[in-house]
Amino acid sequence: MKKVRIGIVGLGNMGFAHAHSILAGKIPRLELGAVSDVNSDKIARVPQVKGFKTAAGMMASGLIDAILVATPHYDHTSLGIAALKAGLHVLLEKPISVHRADCERLIAAHRGREGRQVFAAMFNQRTDLYYQKIRALIQAGELGEIRRVNWIITNWFRTHAYYASGGWRATWAGEGGGVLLNQCPHNLDLFQWIFGMPVELTARCGFGRYHDIEVEDDVTATMRFANGATGVFITSTGEAPGTNRLEVVGERGKLVYEQDRILFTRNEVPMGEFSRTTPHSFATPPIWDVSIPVAGHGGQHNEVLQNFTDAILDGTPLIAPAPEGIHSVELANAMLLSAWTAKPVALPIDGRKYERMLKAKIAESAKLGKKKKSVAAAPVDFAKSFGR
Ligand SMILES: NC(=O)c1ccc[n+]([C@@H]2O[C@H](COP(=O)([O-])OP(=O)(O)OC[C@H]3O[C@@H](n4cnc5c(N)ncnc54)[C@H](O)[C@@H]3O)[C@@H](O)[C@H]2O)c1
Repeated sequence: MKKVRIGIVGLGNMGFAHAHSILAGKIPRLELGAVSDVNSDKIARVPQVKGFKTAAGMMASGLIDAILVATPHYDHTSLGIAALKAGLHVLLEKPISVHRADCERLIAAHRGREGRQVFAAMFNQRTDLYYQKIRALIQAGELGEIRRVNWIITNWFRTHAYYASGGWRATWAGEGGGVLLNQCPHNLDLFQWIFGMPVELTARCGFGRYHDIEVEDDVTATMRFANGATGVFITSTGEAPGTNRLEVVGERGKLVYEQDRILFTRNEVPMGEFSRTTPHSFATPPIWDVSIPVAGHGGQHNEVLQNFTDAILDGTPLIAPAPEGIHSVELANAMLLSAWTAKPVALPIDGRKYERMLKAKIAESAKLGKKKKSVAAAPVDFAKSFGR
């Protein structure tokens, strides 16, 4: 195979943007083979290739070697499993599924096919050179053992028009959650990619705190890691101006990432050692300010598409293997579970129990006949929706 023929299922905001990049030749050796959407108006937006009303039809067409799933979230599981069973390489938009049990079903469907079928997730923010640098510094031990992580990521502001623009958005039945399942999968993925998973967390969520929606649009979570380190994760779609500030404290110093700058203040002597050995009551370790230049935010979506293509054709290691997507989903699930029960939650969570509780939420809102207001939203400036 010299080229990969990809089919895109779901031609909404994201799927159409991916189709556009591929048709524009931005991804060498990747070509658009076909598209599929349940809505024929969406198919009509991509007249260059054959369009299918059903994903199954596209999968069986012989026109594609790989598939990119860019539908609403619940379908990622069923379409992902069907595509793996059809022998296709699969790239799933984030989140890979809505809840842990569905992630396990997806991962099980790929088991035994690892050598033959590439299975990846669109965690484009892993290509951001700032996050790559922070991860590399931590992995190299430059900060020493991590003691505290705080991430305030509230620059996901969304308006009422946004939530009213699609029936599936911001509902338990359609999206499976709010900011944790739609905007934050990127940040939760980066969080676990850089710091690993906590062993316990507690969260307070505001359900419809800022918008007329049933799911969470405001979250404050505290976490505990196995080594005793603590974490705080704060997010919201209702705050403006928003913040993206990541602060990491380790034995060897403190790193702050904010407004496209990484500030690293390094302790000459690890803080614990200094505290134990100094005779002075109010002394602090001597420090150096370290300058860390970073050359931009990376190739984002197109870099993941290129990496997926290279993985299929050349065996290049994946930036974001899909099975790793279970961690961000689990963090989101654990935060919701803690908010629903008003209790701390130990990780890993019981995926089946969470699935039952989520289904109860869906049934409850159906019983109450909850309906969202629907309005036509102004055209989307999609680049603004990616966050950073
Ligand atoms: N990686 C990113 O930066 C990023 C950004 C935005 C959205 N997303 C993700 O992309 C996915 C889609 O989001 P969106 O904003 O494009 O949504 P959207 O509502 O704009 O588009 C969804 C499309 O899927 C179609 N669809 C629904 N069910 C289908 C099915 N079973 N088969 C075929 N087509 C179906 C709909 O008709 C619609 O055209 C979500 O998973 C979302 O989280 C990722």
